[in-house]
Amino acid sequence: MQISVIGAGYVGLTTAACLAEIGHQVLCADNDLDKLKKLNSGLLPFFEPHLDSLVKNNAASGRLQFTSPTEAIERGSAIFICVGTPPLESGEADLSAIESVARTIASTARGYRLVIEKSTVPVQTAKRLWKHLAIYNVNGLDFDVVSNPEFLREGSAVGDFFHPDRIVIGAESPRAVAMMKEIYAPVLTSPAACPIHSHCPPVHEVPLIVTDTNSAELVKHASNSFLAMKISFINLVADACEAAGADIAKVAEGIGSDQRIGQSFLNPGIGFGGFCFPKDLQAFVRIGEKLGCDFSLLKEVENINLRRVEQFVAKVRKELWVLRGKTLAIWGLAFKPETDDVRFAPALNIARRLLAEGARIRAYDPQAMQKAKDELPGITYCLSPNEAAHRADAILILTEWAEFRRPDWAELAKTVAHPLVIDGRNLCASEELAAHGFQYVCIGRPQLALPTAAKEFEVSPLLGLAPLASPPLSASARPLP
Ligand code: UDX
Repeated sequence: MQISVIGAGYVGLTTAACLAEIGHQVLCADNDLDKLKKLNSGLLPFFEPHLDSLVKNNAASGRLQFTSPTEAIERGSAIFICVGTPPLESGEADLSAIESVARTIASTARGYRLVIEKSTVPVQTAKRLWKHLAIYNVNGLDFDVVSNPEFLREGSAVGDFFHPDRIVIGAESPRAVAMMKEIYAPVLTSPAACPIHSHCPPVHEVPLIVTDTNSAELVKHASNSFLAMKISFINLVADACEAAGADIAKVAEGIGSDQRIGQSFLNPGIGFGGFCFPKDLQAFVRIGEKLGCDFSLLKEVENINLRRVEQFVAKVRKELWVLRGKTLAIWGLAFKPETDDVRFAPALNIARRLLAEGARIRAYDPQAMQKAKDELPGITYCLSPNEAAHRADAILILTEWAEFRRPDWAELAKTVAHPLVIDGRNLCASEELAAHGFQYVCIGRPQLALPTAAKEFEVSPLLGLAPLASPPLSASARPLP
């Protein structure tokens, strides 16, 4: 099928490349001429595993081309709208880019067009799109509007396209449903076209949920809000574990083993970020208000998440007392691993807070440093985790990149000024760190016994740093038997 994708951001570019890979003829369009130029010369505007080769191969075969929105709209029989819907000051989604695409379709296209809304939008947007297309229609355009929410996760978006948990189609006409089934047929029927696995996960039938446009739109906001709620919930439970001396890893395992709950999204930490959860949650709260529904539950989900940053900074302060003049190594800036995306990344907010308290920051991220530099000047960007840890008073782990899980702790022990790791993602094994003399602080888990020297002082929450009543003798000072 001749398909056009409007918007070459995370969703648009991934969708376009994957649709080309399953055999469609795809035109991917963007208003940003510089971005188009780079894409035409094989340069991607962001890092996403496997996408680079997918774009290059399909561009080389001629199945994927980059062009202007007007040309894409003139030529595509199915048009995916994948433009941004950033948050307005009020938290509502800004739909002006969607409205503008709709007007261009209405004034440019002739014959029939299937208009597919893939950007995340408030419920009832498809209805508005339909009305708008009808009002501005000058060429007798025949059209359908479909809602087809995306569930792609950054870092695994290509795999998610080929192995989706479900495909949701919100449509009001059988013709539109038939076309959508044709578009997704290779994914629905067989994963054979998957370009990233040599052995694909076992074939299962992908659930196809066909519904009205309002319901499809709600699926998207409700899914993301539910997942955000799960994260905030486990973060609350982690706080309780910390206060009561329990272990969140075991508690989460215990909760998640209930099949009705499931293990995923029960990882506690410094909170969720990225360009989807924070904005979708806010937008859903505003939608609830407009619909006259009480969504205060979701406001609390957001508040809990916002507090995670301050709570983590308090942890750092608890260990290091005054932060002014301290050197802190930050490992991880992206909002999650396998991406270079730093939008609404909790790591950046933590870095800003630490800077405001006078700390010196040495940061490293395998992919996100270029993007972080634009948002966060005033810190030292390093070429490796070890370089960041040089003379550091503490190492802070803020994104769960695999390479931070088992670094060479023996080497790091020689590099740091003070052997302390504060892990905002519960990534490391405390025993391994203790074996190399590191104090390890994480989220919602009991701390292993401190190394002897550090044990001589313990922090009382009321009094600050206080000597123990009778400090234990260090190994070298112990009397011989
Ligand atoms: C999300 C949705 O998962 C996806 O379906 C939708 O299409 C887009 O939004 P994404 O933003 O890529 O995807 O990231 P996701 O993997 O969902 O993680 C979001 C945030 O939650 C990250 O900051 C991550 O670190 C955090 N998170 C996730 C936790 O803190 N704990 C968890 O257990 C899981």
